[in-house]
Amino acid sequence: MENKWLSEAFKGEMPSGFQGKVGWQSPSNIALVKYWGKRGKQIPQNPSISFTLSECRSETFIEYEKAGKFGFQFFFEGKENPSFGAKIEKFLLDNQAFFPFINQLNLKVESHNTFPHSSGIASSASSMSAFVMGLIEIERSLSLSKGRPVDMDLQKASYFSRLASGSAARSVFPKLALWGQTEACQGSSDEYAVSLENDIHPVFKSFRDAILIVSGETKSVSSRAGHALMEGNPYASARYAQANENIKNLLSALQSGDLDTFINITESEALQLHALMMCSKPSYILMKPNTLNLINEIREFRHESKISLCFTLDAGPNVHLLYPESEAEKVEYFIKNVLVNYCDQGRWIADQVGEGPKKLQ
Ligand code: PMV
Repeated sequence: MENKWLSEAFKGEMPSGFQGKVGWQSPSNIALVKYWGKRGKQIPQNPSISFTLSECRSETFIEYEKAGKFGFQFFFEGKENPSFGAKIEKFLLDNQAFFPFINQLNLKVESHNTFPHSSGIASSASSMSAFVMGLIEIERSLSLSKGRPVDMDLQKASYFSRLASGSAARSVFPKLALWGQTEACQGSSDEYAVSLENDIHPVFKSFRDAILIVSGETKSVSSRAGHALMEGNPYASARYAQANENIKNLLSALQSGDLDTFINITESEALQLHALMMCSKPSYILMKPNTLNLINEIREFRHESKISLCFTLDAGPNVHLLYPESEAEKVEYFIKNVLVNYCDQGRWIADQVGEGPKKLQ
């Protein structure tokens, strides 16, 4: 794949006065089978599957102008943000063989998120995929300056989003995406994600995700450090085998609409992710007391109401409550009357499975 993108890289003459502005919005995603552990150049140790979200998005604009050399500035929510900008700049410089035209461009990037500050929701998947789509759009306008516009190449967008931030590879597809090679899914790859949209039962295409904010603090372990800790984790190989098994069974549950299997695998995956952190060296406990209180309430409510709802967790204390759209009224009543009591200042975000990235400008 690397050779394909290298040979397709725009190496022609940049027209004088080349300048403009592109904008893409891209959503966050929540993994059902988790990616935790990587090798080589952002290659996952096991395949993962996620729901693409709808309301939690990054909106990223890139202003570009032909200049004698590479220039880069990054603004987050209106203010210059050198630390996040450094990550994008590093990604660009590491990948300049694929995008050699950047060496003649001055880039000014402005990004903001639709989800609130200090909500503990990681924005690297949404912001990196939005940025990459803008970059590909600039390249496209160079290569096709005289030709017919073509649709965004989602495979390419996913490939480079992966290099920018692993799980961002999945954010470019609507509804559900799978990243990582598995025999259970034809066409799957470690280098880019694939869409599962056409292969899933309708119940999952409109699933809801209520994000219950237990704490808005930033996490005490970055995902980069977390992935690295898997290298010395004594349970690593058992984990990767489990994840592969879970992928196979989850794929078949997603196709048939088997909610019980979906719930069992999703909750087990969330707890495994945290168990792996708890037994790595050094160990991390990212759940808070209210994370456990929410999990207990959710399980009890499921037992009593027989509603097919379940939880998942990211690498942090917040709880994602997943449920079918048809149960929205009852579940939202439960959130507003019970679960908000465990949330930081009663905060939660009503999200759902979404349509993937969109061009803004
Ligand atoms: O994409 P990264 O490197 O931030 O890692 C994401 C890891 C998890 O969010 C915990 C799981 C996942 O598959 O999204």
